[in-house]
Amino acid sequence: MATVSPDVPDADSIIVDPRHDDAARLEFAKSVALGLTDTPPWLHSRFLYDERGSQLFEEICEQPEYYLTNSESEILQRYATRIRDETGPLTLIELGSGSSVKTDYLLSAYAANRAPVRYVPVDVSATILLQAKDAIVARHPTVTVTGIADTYEHAFPLFKEFSPSMVMFLGSSIGNFDQRESDIFWQGVSAGLMPGDYVLVGVDLVKDERILHAAYNDAAGVTAQFTKNLFTRINRELGASIDVDQIEHVARYNTEWQRIEIYARFLSQQDVYLHPLDRTIIVPSGTLVMTEISRKYDLEKTKQFLRCFDFSIVDVFTDEKRWFGLLLLQRVGR
Ligand code: AVI
Repeated sequence: MATVSPDVPDADSIIVDPRHDDAARLEFAKSVALGLTDTPPWLHSRFLYDERGSQLFEEICEQPEYYLTNSESEILQRYATRIRDETGPLTLIELGSGSSVKTDYLLSAYAANRAPVRYVPVDVSATILLQAKDAIVARHPTVTVTGIADTYEHAFPLFKEFSPSMVMFLGSSIGNFDQRESDIFWQGVSAGLMPGDYVLVGVDLVKDERILHAAYNDAAGVTAQFTKNLFTRINRELGASIDVDQIEHVARYNTEWQRIEIYARFLSQQDVYLHPLDRTIIVPSGTLVMTEISRKYDLEKTKQFLRCFDFSIVDVFTDEKRWFGLLLLQRVGR
């Protein structure tokens, strides 16, 4: 059972987002209406992660073409102990923790010799947090888990309570933010931390376009299902009746912007009725609706960019192929 804790979080509790389902649905409907009527049209990628979407994303991570997970795991497996030695003991805060599998390498390093560790996963899904918590406590008896079932932004002001800490943002999830969202994110993280606290961030590096293309167009079609599931969600939660079979997944690499762009192509015209707004939006045949971007990084530029948010670069790790980077940052005093 989730424990709702409004104040300073206790060990082994899950802090649940108190927002009402209706308010969340209205916010979703407004965002869909705004995006579908914009030029060019878009849908916000955060809505990809309902329960089914989160499951599909876990499946994407298991696809042979989706190298990101293995590359980052390779780095964590190799350098977790070194990272622990560099930071010393602290609270591990993980943003968008999901099932926390990769985190296990870090938890094992920080909890070595039965050292007590506090782990604070932040994820919008309380179900995922509870599952992850059970698995972690079973494997690491000296780890106490304080889950926060909420969006990242709502967690930023809580960071100070956990100092000394290291905020982990793995999997190159930062790449799903556009420039503005990324600036807001780094400002929020930086403002939430105390000088001396750490950040560990994973970034997918620029590489041969064919490798990128394959990763987002897997042969088993799991990424396509992931994109289409967004429309199944719109149907279920917003009362629309979109014919999902008339939607096609399109993923291409934009060389100039160094990012994968994912779209849903409408193969026929569809009238999208949004019940919470009592409004219908007509989407013409052939429309490409952008559902996601996944930016790819250059390590030198990334380091420069992060320094602008009061972080010093403590260490940079890559896998053997140099496909993925993991940066250890430290919040400096102003
Ligand atoms: C969560 N994020 C880092 C994934 C990515 O690679 O940008 C999301 C994803 N979308 C399709 N495949 C994977």
